[in-house]
Amino acid sequence: MNKLSKRLEVVASYINDNSKIIDIGCDHGLLSIYLAKKYNNIKIIASDVNKNALGTAIKNIRKEHLEDRIETRLGRGLDVVTPEEIDTIVIAGMGANTIVGILKYSTDKLINVKNIIIQSNTDLYFLRKDVTKLGYYIEDESLVEDANIIYTVIKFSKGKKRYNYKELYLGPILIKKNDSLFKKKCDKEIKTITMILSRIEKGHLLYKLKLKKNLRVLKNRS
Ligand SMILES: C[S@@+](CC[C@H](N)C(=O)[O-])C[C@H]1O[C@@H](n2cnc3c(N)ncnc32)[C@H](O)[C@@H]1O
Repeated sequence: MNKLSKRLEVVASYINDNSKIIDIGCDHGLLSIYLAKKYNNIKIIASDVNKNALGTAIKNIRKEHLEDRIETRLGRGLDVVTPEEIDTIVIAGMGANTIVGILKYSTDKLINVKNIIIQSNTDLYFLRKDVTKLGYYIEDESLVEDANIIYTVIKFSKGKKRYNYKELYLGPILIKKNDSLFKKKCDKEIKTITMILSRIEKGHLLYKLKLKKNLRVLKNRS
């Protein structure tokens, strides 16, 4: 089997044995395969909206003789499960908009869901804000660097907590951990925002204000 990427290893580290998971957008199926091999009592549904992607997952699962451990389902988001079938959702490698859309569109499927593990690299402010609005708090977060990209992985758990702008933008746990990857990510973001601000022409007032606010938050993060 292809080796699991460092990014997906971190995603996997947030999943426990005895859970009932759906791996939404499983694509190659490597995360589900890794989890089925690691845990004896995990129930896994690997799903994808794309027939070819799911076909690749099915091939990989068969190669590993794990057909009886991983169920595969073709379809969009949480459409493919009933609330009783899952207590953990994993969504990796998708944009924040798609992820939030999947969860918001199917809140009736979240009744028994205790943990949602998400790896996304776009608009993490929006992602944290909207997932916490659904009745989840941020239990843990990690950064992982893989092939020169710094990825963010977040474990949401059922419960309520209030967060301020800085926490939603940078991550409440990442701020506390304040590790070297966090510093690197913030420095990269400062450079990117400064470059964008220098290139924006007249107008775009609201966008410029948002960028300037983010720049202030990044510079005063500690
Ligand atoms: C970039 S791949 C990520 C694959 C894998 N999760 C990973 O992190 O390596 C995104 C996958 O999500 C699937 N996808 C996108 N939107 C989806 C949705 N609404 N429901 C289910 N699958 C979706 C795509 O077909 C694609 O296979």
